[in-house]
Amino acid sequence: MKIMCALLSIFIIMAFCNLCFSPHLNGAQVINQGQEAYEANCADCHRSNGEGLAVKFPALKGNPFVTGAPQPLIELMLRGRKGKMGLMPAWQEHLSDAQMAALLSYIRNAWGNQAAPVQPQDVGKLRRY
Ligand code: HEC
Repeated sequence: MKIMCALLSIFIIMAFCNLCFSPHLNGAQVINQGQEAYEANCADCHRSNGEGLAVKFPALKGNPFVTGAPQPLIELMLRGRKGKMGLMPAWQEHLSDAQMAALLSYIRNAWGNQAAPVQPQDVGKLRRY
């Protein structure tokens, strides 16, 4: 009986670990991961509600550049831009393809935005070192 309990516990622990480390995330998990990355890296400037700050930081909510073709958006994210409003930092050294894809899928579908998600390989193709 003791052995059965021990085996059962090991089995439960293994199943749990497997869940934690599963590399295949579903859509909702990707969006959650994207939201976390957004809060950690972007919300200081563009704010949690995606509305930015007048004159200083552009709004991402309702912004056609965010919900439009993914390529210019990914390129801006990787390489940054110094524009009229100020400096948008480059993120290619800070975020992996998967993190970037999750983050962009989040901002393309947060705050009423609606657009197709971005895949990690879309980011990988545009990365240059
Ligand atoms: C230090 C402040 C700052 C941080 C942090 C920051 N941004 Fe920006 N971002 C800016 C500024 C300033 C601009 C406008 C640059 C310009 O004048 O062209 C900008 C521009 C953008 C644009 C282009 C908007 C448009 O209409 O052209 C997007 C998209 C964007 N940021 C997304 C993000 C995301 C996603 C993150 C987090 C990974 C992030 N930004 C982090 C300051 C910041």
